Order: sequence, then C-alpha cells, then structure tokens
Amino acid sequence: MSKDRPETRLTSEGRMSAEHFGVINTPVYRASTILYPDLKALKANTQPYTYGRRGTPSTESFEGAISSLEGAARTVSVTSGVQAIALAILSVCGTGDHILVVDSCYEPTRTLCERTLKRYGIQTSYYAPGDDITAHLKPNTKAVFCESPGSLTFEVQDIGAIAEAAHAHGASVLMDNTWATPLFFQPLAHGVDLSIQAATKYIGGHADVMLGYVAANERHAARLHQVHGDLGLYASGDDCFLGLRGVRTLGVRLKQHQETGLALARWLKDRPEVARILHPALPDDPGHALWKRDFSGACGLFGVILKPVSEAAVAAFVDGLQHFGIGYSWGGFESLIVPAHIKRTVRPFVAEGPVLRIHAGLEDAGDLIADLEQGFKRLKEHI
Ligand SMILES: Cc1ncc(COP(=O)(O)O)c(C=O)c1O
Repeated sequence: MSKDRPETRLTSEGRMSAEHFGVINTPVYRASTILYPDLKALKANTQPYTYGRRGTPSTESFEGAISSLEGAARTVSVTSGVQAIALAILSVCGTGDHILVVDSCYEPTRTLCERTLKRYGIQTSYYAPGDDITAHLKPNTKAVFCESPGSLTFEVQDIGAIAEAAHAHGASVLMDNTWATPLFFQPLAHGVDLSIQAATKYIGGHADVMLGYVAANERHAARLHQVHGDLGLYASGDDCFLGLRGVRTLGVRLKQHQETGLALARWLKDRPEVARILHPALPDDPGHALWKRDFSGACGLFGVILKPVSEAAVAAFVDGLQHFGIGYSWGGFESLIVPAHIKRTVRPFVAEGPVLRIHAGLEDAGDLIADLEQGFKRLKEHI
C-alpha cells in the first residue's frame, strides 16, 4: 500500500487514465456483451473483462480505489448497503450456522436475519455493543456482526477485542462501517474480515445514488467473490462512476460534516430542552474513550434526546425547520432530521424523551443553529 496519507490517496486511487486517453476518472462503461478477438482468447479466458455482470473498467476503478482505502485484498460492489450486508453474511454463513449481531445495528439488518435468513436455517441472536462476546458465542457461531457507532444509539464497540474473541472461536467478523467510512475507521486493520459500506451515504455523498460494497481481507476474498458471482450481484457502471467521483472529495466533505455536526451537537447540548446528545466525539459521551482510541474522525450523524414533550411539540419543532429535510437517508450534502425509535435492544436503553437523529449537511453551521433556535421557540409554544 502507498505511504501517502488517505486524503492524498483519495484523489488518485483507481485511476486508469492511460487506458482512457488521459481521461482522469474512468468513464461510465455500460456493457453486457464483451467481445473476444478469437476462439483462442475465449478458451484462454485471460481477458480482464469477460461479461458485464463480472466487471468493467468502471467497477474495477471504483473497487480498486476502495480496496486501497480499506487495505483490502478484494472489494466487490453491489446495488445497496443492505445488499452488501446480505452478501457479507451469506459469504460466511449457511444452513445450521449462527450469527451473533449487535443489537444497535441498522434495523433492516435485523429484519434480514429474522425473516429471510431464518427461512434458510441461519439462526441469529443479539449482544449489547459493550458486551464481552465470549459468553454469547455458540458452537455453531460462524459470524459476529458489528456496527460502530450503532444506528440510532451511537454506541461505540471495541472492535479489536470482539475480533480477538471471535477469531479464537473460529468465527468471522463483519462490520457495517458506514458511519465512519474507511477514512475515519479502518475495519480490517482492527481485525474485521469483511468491511461493509452503504456507499449510498458518504461515498456517493450527493444523495443521488444507491450503492454498496464489501471489502475483504486475504482470507475471505476468494469466497466473497465467488458468492457475489453465484448470486448474480452487480453494481452498474453509472453508479460505480458516481461512487468513484464521490471518493475524490470524501476527505473535504467528511471534515466539513464533522465540524458542522460537532458545532450543532455542542450547541444542542447546552439547550434547556435537551436531555442528552448521542455523539461519541463529545468528551462526556460514554463511547468517547474508545472513539478517540480507534477513530480518526466523526461524520455528521448524531442523536439528540429531548426532555419529555408532546408529539405535537416535536412536530412543531421539526416541521417548521427551513434547512433540515425530513428524510431517512444521510451522508449527502443536505441536513436532515428524523424521529428515531430505539426499540428491541437486548438491554434497557432508556431515553428521557423523544429521540431525533440529525444529519449535519454542508450548509453554514450558523444558519443551521438559527433554524434550530426558531424550532425550539415553536416547541415551547406547544408545552
Ligand atoms: C448504518 C447503515 N447501514 C446500511 C444502510 C443501508 O444502505 P442502503 O440504503 O444503501 O441499502 C443504511 C441506510 O440507511 C445505514 O444507515
């Protein structure tokens, strides 16, 4: 791997300019058919590209850039983050196996496990983000699934300790690293075997592409590629192009999301209407020490627990905001806010009042704070 810092590598990894008349980012290749010059070449099967589904220069550029950032032996791209989660699990688990999943995972990860994977004979149980997983491992545990910080609760996990315990048991470690991206946390360097990313979020960065990937270490690369092929998974040239274009500016965007997110979080923390902020980069957050040890930054996504107020007061606060859209995604240029319903944790997670999830976009932090201030005025009118 290059000695250059990741911010530098973001601008150059995956370039194939020499093969494309000097064009700096690999153009969009739309292809199903790929021709061979003769039967000898067909038989030899050594062409870099053989059929659209199995890759084009567009997918290769994107996946190559990601492998470099992740320190991975191989990356495969798919059409969404959820597809990446399903692929990672299916590449290590089969009928009769057990997967141990963190209870703060993205809700559709649970749905996948409890509905579809259950039908195929894969059992799931859950652990709390701070648990020593040893006691939860079963003889048939094949995979431990992590997400750090977790969706909605933003609790940080000790990935190194989890990986050590899982590997001692012969289980693989899978991690949804969408919050940090490989720029702020490197899963494989912390012992993760399969690093999962909803590239829909910060990698795409412009709220206009659905894309996912799984990056594997050496030991898991061949099987990952095989299962990706067997399931017929694929990401389009257009989407990989957008993914690679997003990679080029990921460094500056994430720094800005971090700065604005922290400005909002700190301001909200001092508001009388707020009970608690869920943001591991704040020094008094319970996950701060782990975050500081393992992460090199924070993105713009965090939680706010309000003091108890009525649903109407929350609606007055949220509905009137001018700069925050109401929407489920995040990682784009725009600020967003949604109510977060924390449920089904294996341990009690007590929220003092309504929970909101905020995504700090690329707008001016002062404008966003002024907007929130107006929101609190509306909220008070409903108390
Ligand atoms: C943490 C996390 N992982 C995975 C996903 C799924 O990504 P996609 O919507 O691309 O399937 C999301 C989407 O919100 C997410 O928040």
